[in-house]
Amino acid sequence: MNKVTISNNSNYKIDENMEAMINASDLNGPVPINEPERQYYFIKKARNYVDELAKELGRRPKACSIAFGCQMNARDSEKILGVLRCVGYDEAEDEKADFVIYNTCTVRDNADQRVYGRLGYAGSLKKKNPHMKIAVCGCMMQEEVAVEKIRKSYRQVDLIFGTHNLFKFAELLCYMFESDRMIIDIWKETTEIVEDLPIERKYPFKSGVNIMFGCNNFCTYCIVPYVRGRERSREPKDIIREIEHLAADGVKEVMLLGQNVNSYGQNLENPISFAQLLAEVCKVDGIERVRFMTPHPKDLSQELIDVIRDNPKVARHIHLPCQSGSTEILRRMNRKYTKESYLELATRIREQLPDVAITTDIIVGFPGETDKDVDDTIDLINKVKYDNAFTFIYSKRTGTPAASFENQVSEEDVKRNFDRVLKAVQENAHAQARKWTGTVQRVLIESINEQDESLVTGRMSNNTLVHFKGDKTRIGTFADVHLDECRGFYYMGTEVGGV
Ligand code: SAH
Ligand code: SF4
Ligand code: F3S
Repeated sequence: MNKVTISNNSNYKIDENMEAMINASDLNGPVPINEPERQYYFIKKARNYVDELAKELGRRPKACSIAFGCQMNARDSEKILGVLRCVGYDEAEDEKADFVIYNTCTVRDNADQRVYGRLGYAGSLKKKNPHMKIAVCGCMMQEEVAVEKIRKSYRQVDLIFGTHNLFKFAELLCYMFESDRMIIDIWKETTEIVEDLPIERKYPFKSGVNIMFGCNNFCTYCIVPYVRGRERSREPKDIIREIEHLAADGVKEVMLLGQNVNSYGQNLENPISFAQLLAEVCKVDGIERVRFMTPHPKDLSQELIDVIRDNPKVARHIHLPCQSGSTEILRRMNRKYTKESYLELATRIREQLPDVAITTDIIVGFPGETDKDVDDTIDLINKVKYDNAFTFIYSKRTGTPAASFENQVSEEDVKRNFDRVLKAVQENAHAQARKWTGTVQRVLIESINEQDESLVTGRMSNNTLVHFKGDKTRIGTFADVHLDECRGFYYMGTEVGGV
């Protein structure tokens, strides 16, 4: 869970052009039809509501935005925060705030359950603080049953919206101020991509950048295509412009985000490949590291491998979800590759990009999975020698094809096989992590060490963490660090140069 809180208005910065456009909105005139002008109008309007509230309270109201799920949601929460800061909300340390927004995930059932738990908690806070507002948005809200459940059983919620209309948050905020009833606005689909809205980054030195939205792959276990809609790519010029702005604002590292970045740009009027986009992003001055997430193995091109090899700015890390090592399970998952073709790709990456870490996602307990299928997955793990892996227990998602597949696996078998897979993952990850001991690596310093304040934590290009002496003034800068000792999945090091 990523908790993003709003920092003080004193360090809030807004793009001057955007501020001028917001100020130019005429609240006495008709509501603009075009975006983003329409949202600028509602931002201006919402500022008046927030000012009124501030007068009532005798202080600026505080908001707290909590994101569940993946990087896409974390980025969306930054957009929500951007609007909230822009209309005048202050920082809240936690949910004891005047406005709490939950950005939900529904990829697995436990994600849903966590949201209901938090809503219960927020409801108890609202009883003590009746003017508190609660909003719920994100992937789970694209499912009718979830919205229905909240409508009936969580009456304390003031605003519900989905993934497709997030861009109109400022507008919805105004409706919320104008009504005592629960506002629900969910779109089934959209073809729109609205640019140039406020965003408040969580980190000053790194940022996610959406390059595309939605997914067309329909893996049979996965809810994402149903809640995020069809694939839509942003124009390369908009992406590059955003990254240039980020660089001018001190960002050193960007992560290009999409459910399958390899199919980026295919449906644009002037098609462009992901590899071409990546090469363009590397040319942006000030950006020193470029990550991306997630490439689908079915169409990771040789062109992409070449671009990674030729551009040292591209992080030495490829997250390449296999999901399973059994060709039969992969077929029924609709992943469109076999164990052999995946292995061929991973081997080619290992040969041509020897310093690149390969990580993966694995699902255990897909319907019909046998011990023999899991043996295949373990064989794949041992052959690819993953640097790390996220292992998930299959979660049945209503509405996906796999939910109605026969032979759902018993809990007992899943547990046993999950432990086997985890053991193989950990053995390989430990062996892989150790192999850089004694080398000097360039790291981006991200934070003060949680356990020991005299240490800072840096991230290597291949995503491994290193702890070494330093103080908070170093956060957001690069350092060259000697890797003294490997401790499981991370290193202790000594700085040998930097900035
Ligand atoms: N688009 C990305 C994955 C996004 S979801 C890709 O294709 O790689 C992140 C991960 O959640 C997936 O890789 C998968 O391992 C896991 N996941 C998705 N649906 C799941 C389900 N129903 N049960 C368990 N894990 C699931
Ligand atoms: Fe889900 Fe598959 Fe799309 Fe990834 S590629 S989001 S796993 S449907
Ligand atoms: Fe979850 Fe939605 Fe991401 S379902 S994993 S937050 S795209």
